[in-house]
Order: sequence, then structure tokens, then C-alpha cells
Amino acid sequence: MLKNKKILVGVSGGIAIYKALDLISRLRKQGAEVRVVMTEHATKFINPTLFREISCNPVAVTLWDEQPEFYAEHIKLAEWADILVVAPATANVVGKMAHGLADDLLSSVALAIPVTKPILLCPAMNSNMYANVAVQDNLDELLVRENYFVVEPAEGVLACGTVGLGRLPEPQELLEHIDATLGEWYGDLVGRHILVTASGTREAIDPVRYIGNKSSGKMGFAVARAALSRGALVTLIAGPTKEVAPVEANVINVQSTQEMYDACLEAYPKVDVVIKAAAVADYAPAKVAKEKIKKNNEKLDLTLKKNPDILKELGRQKKKQILVGFAAETTKVLEYAKKKIKEKNLDFIVANDVSQPGAGFDVNTNIVKLIDKAGKVEELPQLTKDEVAHRILDKVLKIEKQNVSRKK
Ligand code: CTP
Repeated sequence: MLKNKKILVGVSGGIAIYKALDLISRLRKQGAEVRVVMTEHATKFINPTLFREISCNPVAVTLWDEQPEFYAEHIKLAEWADILVVAPATANVVGKMAHGLADDLLSSVALAIPVTKPILLCPAMNSNMYANVAVQDNLDELLVRENYFVVEPAEGVLACGTVGLGRLPEPQELLEHIDATLGEWYGDLVGRHILVTASGTREAIDPVRYIGNKSSGKMGFAVARAALSRGALVTLIAGPTKEVAPVEANVINVQSTQEMYDACLEAYPKVDVVIKAAAVADYAPAKVAKEKIKKNNEKLDLTLKKNPDILKELGRQKKKQILVGFAAETTKVLEYAKKKIKEKNLDFIVANDVSQPGAGFDVNTNIVKLIDKAGKVEELPQLTKDEVAHRILDKVLKIEKQNVSRKK
């Protein structure tokens, strides 16, 4: 969602202003176009030249420029933007926006943003200031308006030495909030609740050992990010992974297949789509040793019992949901994938040959085929996992459209 989006960043005079520079740099790396409006107070902390260089655009500060880039600059900037992000937003700026005051360029731009565009405020201040009833009332007042969104400040050590709520979240988190807000406002998956599973499950042998599947979680996390950036509500049920969860997802961490099964079945009635990217352990030790097993014998036999098939059960209970499975194979990819579609009552499956270079575990690319229940095969070239995720979601939307048309 960030690519080619026009993001107007309002920067007000708080100590967290240094994070705004990093945020702008990240936004541009994602393909967004950025313009910056600074308050006079903000320019006391950082010279606008630095924001100009980072954003690669002129920086606007005052309504009274002798040579403004545009005439009626506050109106033109508001017309230009797809979103206004105020980061950091001081108590003063929040107050002005809540009460419709327009005594400088940033507050005037904020008033000129029409209700058809989102405004995202990222307040950052001392924790007592943030807790003050005046600030909280102002934020409540803004949140009543449909196009206003607020990123809660983080807890931690503040510049003044206080420990508490009031820190501006890290730039990467801010970026994810902006992406999700754009998705919520402009995305084609708004109103859908998508359940994504990711990574492998682990089955305990004893307190220190487990058996599990190879899986980095990269594909599932890419699907979760893509769905959020297109406006979906995302529940992400993940096994152990090094991947960092998207800040806007509802994340449920699990270890074993049984835990993933319980979490999926609980969430299932509330979701519209399930994308089951997790590599689930099919078998678990029949008995888990209470103490660490000692290597006293030359041979160790493990008896395994079959785990429940989560996707099969979801297929059995399926009502309105669109079910998407994954099939990571090393041979007979199409044959096995088609069999799984039938057995698990899927709408389509994402099949790949994990023995191919550029596909499968621990790499950032994948080479997949999307196979639907009618047997239609869509072969995708080698793409990044983020791109594959978007193609999967495109297919979900296509199926949703077909389902709606069939019901008429
Ligand atoms: N799956 C599941 N629960 C299981 C096993 C698999 O939900 N116990 C899901 C996976 O998340 C994936 C799909 O079913 O979306 C296919 O998984 P895969 O491991 O390829 O196939 P299996 O059904 O386990 O069959 P096999 O291991 O024999 O290939």
C-alpha cells in the first residue's frame, strides 16, 4: 500500500522528532512520495534542510513564505496528500486539531484535509502530559471523527528521565501503522477477517528436545503483512520463528500442532478466509518424557502418534470461509496438491516443489502454482514471498467474487 502513495508528514516540536527522519527514509524506500510540514517549534530542534534532503521535496513551515511552492499552500498540500501523518504529535498540536484551531501551517493543513482522507496521529510526550485529562479528552474528541486514527505511544524511558507511557514508537512500527491505516482506508480487503498460520509446529520429546518441520515462517508472515496492507483484519497463529510479527496483527503464538489446532478452531467461526501456510508436524511422540532423556542406550526408539489434521477439520466445518492450503512437495507436486484440495475441502492450494532453488524454506523467494478446486493451474514465476502473498490474496478476492455471483 505504501508504493506510490503520497504521504504528508507533519512534524511538531517534540524530542522524538529524530525518529521522524528515519521514518521518512523508510517510507521513501518503500516507494512512497513524502512531503513534510514542520511547525516553527520543530525547526528549533532540526533544521528543515535535513527533512528536505531526506524527503527529496521542499519542506513547508509557514503560511507566510515569500516564495511558497504553491499558492494557498495549506489547501494544495491537503489536496496532494493521500494521508496526513503527524509524528511526533505534541500535546499542543493534538489540542489544536481537536478544537479546529488553525494558527500555523500544520494546523491549517490538518483542517483542510477532507473527511475522505485519513489522518494518523502519533502522539509523543512526557507521561504526565499524556495522561492529562486535557490531552486524553482531545484524543477522544479526535477519535470520534471517522478519518482520525491514533498510534498509542510506547512505554519506556522518556527523554526527561521519566519511565512511562509517552515514547514515539520505533520508525518501523510507525511505518507498519501507516501502511495498515492506508490499507484500512483504501484497501481492497477492508471488512475481511483473515486467519493466517505460519512457521512450523514443534512436538516435545522431553523438556529440552522436540521434533518439527523445517519452516522459517517467512511465507506466512508475508501473507499477514500483505493482508494488513490491503485493509484486512488479521489473526496470525504462529509457531516458533525468528520473523517479527506485524504490529497490527492479532498474534497468537503456539508450539505444538494441538495448540495450533485449538487456536485455529476457536478463531474459525469469526473469520472469512484461512490461509494455512504453517508447516504442521504430522506426528508427535506418543509419550513426552518428564525428565531429559539420558543417552544411556545405543538405540532410542520413539513411538509417534498422528496429530490432528487442522486444515481437514476446518474443511469439514466450512461454512462461508474461503480455505487456502499449502502443499510443499518434493515430487509429484500437482498430483499431491490436487489430492489435498479434495481431501481438505479447499478453495485453492499454493503448491511448490521445495527442492527447486529459489523456492521453499528460509529463502525470500518462492516459485508456486495456484491450483483451484476446478483443477485450474496458475503457474507463477519466481517472485519474492511478499509478491507471492499478494497474488494469493488476489486469488482470494477472485474466488470471493465468484462465490457472490453464484449465490445471486
Ligand atoms: N496441515 C494441517 N494440519 C496437519 C497437516 C497439514 O493443517 N496436521 C495443512 C498445512 O498447513 C498445509 C496443508 O495442510 O496447508 C498441507 O500440508 P502438507 O504438510 O503439505 O500435507 P499433509 O496433509 O500433512 O500430507 P503429507 O505430509 O502426507 O504430504
